[in-house]
Amino acid sequence: MASILDRLRTLALAGAMAGMAMAAGGLQAGVDLPKLERGKGDKCVEETQFMRRNHMELLKHHRDETMHKGIRTPKHSLKGCVECHAGAKTGSVAASKEDFCSACHAYASVKLDCWDCHATKPGKRPIHSIPSTAGAAMPPMDSGMAGGHR
Ligand code: HEC
Ligand code: HEC
Ligand code: HEC
Repeated sequence: MASILDRLRTLALAGAMAGMAMAAGGLQAGVDLPKLERGKGDKCVEETQFMRRNHMELLKHHRDETMHKGIRTPKHSLKGCVECHAGAKTGSVAASKEDFCSACHAYASVKLDCWDCHATKPGKRPIHSIPSTAGAAMPPMDSGMAGGHR
């Protein structure tokens, strides 16, 4: 049942974050974690559990490599995160409190300065990313065309 799965997911996430949450203070067991939108594609750039715990290290490490050594590994690029995790409503990872990165960070009281310089939205805005809830996309009416219909 969906509710049980949600609960398990919430617990797993709470476990992963418990240490930091306590350090940040003010977080209590039983508070509902934000609902995270699922990223695009089948999976993240690393295992989901790993990402929950270590994405900050990945990003910081990656930034150091890029900035200081001129190495680029597209796999862990911040651009990649944004492309897959931009929210359906805002098209951004951090425009609203429901967006992927900010949802979790708001909960954990993490503030990022990254978005001062880095875009929170994917560079291109493919039309198909417009949320389907936005419009009654009518299927084409083929009444006049279906001459051969019996
Ligand atoms: C003062 C501006 C500034 C801030 C703040 C900043 N960056 Fe960057 N960052 C840059 C510039 C400039 C580059 C190199 C140009 C590029 O690759 O887009 C870069 C490159 C990167 C890259 C490698 C390129 C990519 O797209 O993956 C990563 C990863 C990255 N930054 C992560 C971060 C993270 C995480 C934060 C917040 C903790 C952050 N940056 C904050 C300016 C900034
Ligand atoms: C190719 C698309 C893609 C890219 C690129 C990507 N992700 Fe993901 N990410 C996903 C998907 C899909 C999931 C959900 C996987 C699952 O449910 O097991 C996910 C899950 C996560 C989670 C766990 C979310 C949760 O529900 O607890 C975190 C954290 C995360 N990603 C951060 C990042 C960061 C940071 C980057 C950039 C370094 C990144 N992702 C790049 C697709 C992507
Ligand atoms: C599953 C919850 C969750 C999601 C989703 C998430 N984060 Fe985080 N993030 C955290 C937590 C918790 C911390 C604080 C870790 C700590 O204090 O050591 C953090 C810290 C960070 C830091 C380090 C901040 C610093 O100043 O040290 C960066 C950078 C970061 N996250 C980037 C991202 C980006 C980019 C995304 C979206 C693609 C994202 N995070 C999505 C939970 C999350």
